[in-house]
Amino acid sequence: MPTFPVRIDSRLPQVGTTIFTVMSRLAQECGAINLSQGFPDFNAEDVLFERVAHWMRAGFNQYAPMAGVGPLREAIAHKVAALYGTAYDPETEITVTAGATQALFTAVAALVHPGDEVIVFEPVYDSYAPAIELQGGRVVRLQLAAPGYRPDWDAVAAAITPRTRMIMINSPHNPTATVWTADDLAGLAAATRGTGIVVVSDEVYEHIVFDGRRHESCARDAELAARSVIVSSFGKTYHITGWKVGYVVAPRELMAEFRKVHQFNVFTVNTPVQLALADYMADASRHEGLAAFYQAKRDFFGAGLAGSRFELLPSAGTYFQLARYRAICDEPDTAFVERLTRDSGVAAIPVSAFFADGRDERVLRFCFAKNEATLAAACERLCRV
Ligand SMILES: Cc1ncc(COP(=O)(O)O)c(C=O)c1O
Repeated sequence: MPTFPVRIDSRLPQVGTTIFTVMSRLAQECGAINLSQGFPDFNAEDVLFERVAHWMRAGFNQYAPMAGVGPLREAIAHKVAALYGTAYDPETEITVTAGATQALFTAVAALVHPGDEVIVFEPVYDSYAPAIELQGGRVVRLQLAAPGYRPDWDAVAAAITPRTRMIMINSPHNPTATVWTADDLAGLAAATRGTGIVVVSDEVYEHIVFDGRRHESCARDAELAARSVIVSSFGKTYHITGWKVGYVVAPRELMAEFRKVHQFNVFTVNTPVQLALADYMADASRHEGLAAFYQAKRDFFGAGLAGSRFELLPSAGTYFQLARYRAICDEPDTAFVERLTRDSGVAAIPVSAFFADGRDERVLRFCFAKNEATLAAACERLCRV
């Protein structure tokens, strides 16, 4: 293999392989139970696969319209209106994307100019900062402090400057499993009132909220909806993370800018899958039942760890469970998680990976989107640590 003869001036010099890839690879190497990366180890329903096969056989295998097939955009409009009471126009305000990651990247690329500031809350999902930096934007990091991980609106107000172009939020939140309340949204509305700030609201876990809570979408609040690009993911909702299909809803002015970029970095998402998802979404019980489905898994996992030395933090939503391990050791979380994977056979994610400065609060993130047999086996091993 020839080697590239010139030193590459990297656009992302600090970025290596993500912790999710690293931990999944280590889990595989060690034959460990993989509770690190966030994906289910169970399958979606056959009927969804049948619908994909149906549309393929029926000849729907060529490019879809740039914004997504009509029936899927209609179905998304219907769902969002039914859940959050806001009508988005499928023609001009809804776009189907290649997963949420692409949607987030495209939103940033479309709206952030070099020198603009973008506020994010740490611990933060790993794709946000590189997306901002690639556009020449400046990442302004505010902290969600353990153990409550609530946003501090005074800190937000103090961080806003004339250069603040965007605030990126995520609720239900990965990795902390916290869920924003109506008060949090009111805080965001107050902080951005009278500014030109765009909110990018990552709502990929919108259907996974526990104990009777409701998801506070930015779409619920007319003032916030008017400045928000809202991102969701079918991967999380229908157990198909590998299909990489998601969507964005936004006011038409923002969506017009979004589509200018989308048409050149993706153009369009695969046709038969979109048509199948449109069919599948017609039954609302499929997303309405998701919270109870995952709450049972959260409770099963929690009960299985009751006899362990892990200290579980509250999980109000998402399919993640944070755990402190101060009763076990005081090792850095990266060292401990590696030892846990190698010696005890369970992989997790060290939460320090979600902080730019590697802040280590000695907390691990476990993914409980797994069959009960997987969770039971993991709990048995974790109880021996
Ligand atoms: C908070 C958050 N945003 C975005 C994504 C990416 O979603 P997708 O797989 O649809 O790109 C994930 C996936 O783990 C996530 O946890």
